[in-house]
Amino acid sequence: MNNFIFENTTKVYFGKGCVKEYLACLIGKYERNIMLCYGEGSIKKNGIYEEVMEILASTGKEIYEFSGIMPNPTYRKVLEGAEVARENQIGLILGVGGGSVMDCCKAISIAARYDGNVWEDFWERPGIIDFEPLPLGVIVTVSGTGSECNGGAVITNEEKKVKGGRDYPQCNPEFALLDPSYTYSVPKFQMVSGGFDTLSHIMETYFSEPDGDNVSDDLAEALMKNVIRNLRVAIRNPEDYTARSNLMWDAAMAENRLLKLGKRTDFQCHQMEHQLGAYTGCNHGAGLAVLHPVYYRHIYRDGLVKFKRFAINVWGISVEGKSEEEIARAGVEALAEFIREIGLPVTLRELGVDESVDLRAVVDSCVSMQGSYRKMTQDEINKIFQEVQD
Ligand code: NZQ
Ligand code: ZN
Repeated sequence: MNNFIFENTTKVYFGKGCVKEYLACLIGKYERNIMLCYGEGSIKKNGIYEEVMEILASTGKEIYEFSGIMPNPTYRKVLEGAEVARENQIGLILGVGGGSVMDCCKAISIAARYDGNVWEDFWERPGIIDFEPLPLGVIVTVSGTGSECNGGAVITNEEKKVKGGRDYPQCNPEFALLDPSYTYSVPKFQMVSGGFDTLSHIMETYFSEPDGDNVSDDLAEALMKNVIRNLRVAIRNPEDYTARSNLMWDAAMAENRLLKLGKRTDFQCHQMEHQLGAYTGCNHGAGLAVLHPVYYRHIYRDGLVKFKRFAINVWGISVEGKSEEEIARAGVEALAEFIREIGLPVTLRELGVDESVDLRAVVDSCVSMQGSYRKMTQDEINKIFQEVQD
């Protein structure tokens, strides 16, 4: 295991009714002005907005709304939000939504308290936060990213065509309310996309050194199996509380830094998907679904022992009559088959990325990650994208 320091400062309130039970009490200690941030309107359709507003009204706080946070939030939206926060002397940002809302809120919490160039100083290169970002609390309405339990914020700079993430511990939400029944209204496509994002976070950590006996890999296998099993249940019955609960906690577990302890982590697939997203605005989990199997077909021989273990322990591949390489490859194909089964795209065309997109520019904007079993060259990244075009 590699050396590590572990801290997670987010306090999580989990379960049906947790917003009603704890929200009013939680916001009591913050200054009077609260900035309620949300996305493009789903919370007004499913009743979450009404429920939250009723609770907020009972606290006597002044509420300033900041809405329209889009999937794959932009740097422009961050600056807009920071302006609202500054103008109104906001004491707490309350984000209600998924990864996009939470990430945008984290970046706003930095931008509201920083006078320099936020993109250049905190996203283009890793920055030092020697000030206190605005406090943030979140209410999660769609699971997948795990953003509720870390300081990570993935922001798209439209002018520069870069989608980049940084994880600043100071940006961990101070509290996170996770009511699985809030996710009942998430459409099937978004639900499976979120579930696959969680699976991807676990795989990106699992498929990296060290590969010797370590607790992270054992936990990862248990979590992967839980995501796979519960996605199947939630597809059959979207209002299965147990399945939604498991998926919600899986997402948080995958990205609360616990699994990453002592591991190098890969995240090459995420890097490529983020750049695809920067050029096309594609859905994050769906983009990962297209890229994962093809990327693994390229690297499984370089991490043969781990890919074999994945095939046997996660997918139950029988070893009889197969070489090590055949077992490992069968695990990758089982993953590909699962992606088809849950209805996610397997090609760029199915993802909505056609000839009008300059794929070469996407490829050229990708970088090679340090923790992967084999470093990708630009040529190999190009091949990966070509192989999943149709
Ligand atoms: O905007 P609204 O109208 O609210 O609709 C959203 C959005 O269209 C909808 N939705 C959310 N809750 C709902 C609901 N619809 C019905 N019922 C509900 N209860 O779902 C759509 C997707 O929401 P979004 O927040 O974009 O999804 P997700 O949680 O997958 O977040 C994706 C973003 O997070 C980044 C991704 O790159 C992407 O930008 N990531 C953040 C990470 C982090 N901070 O740790 C890690 C990830 O790897 C990821 O990169
Ligand atoms: Zn992700």
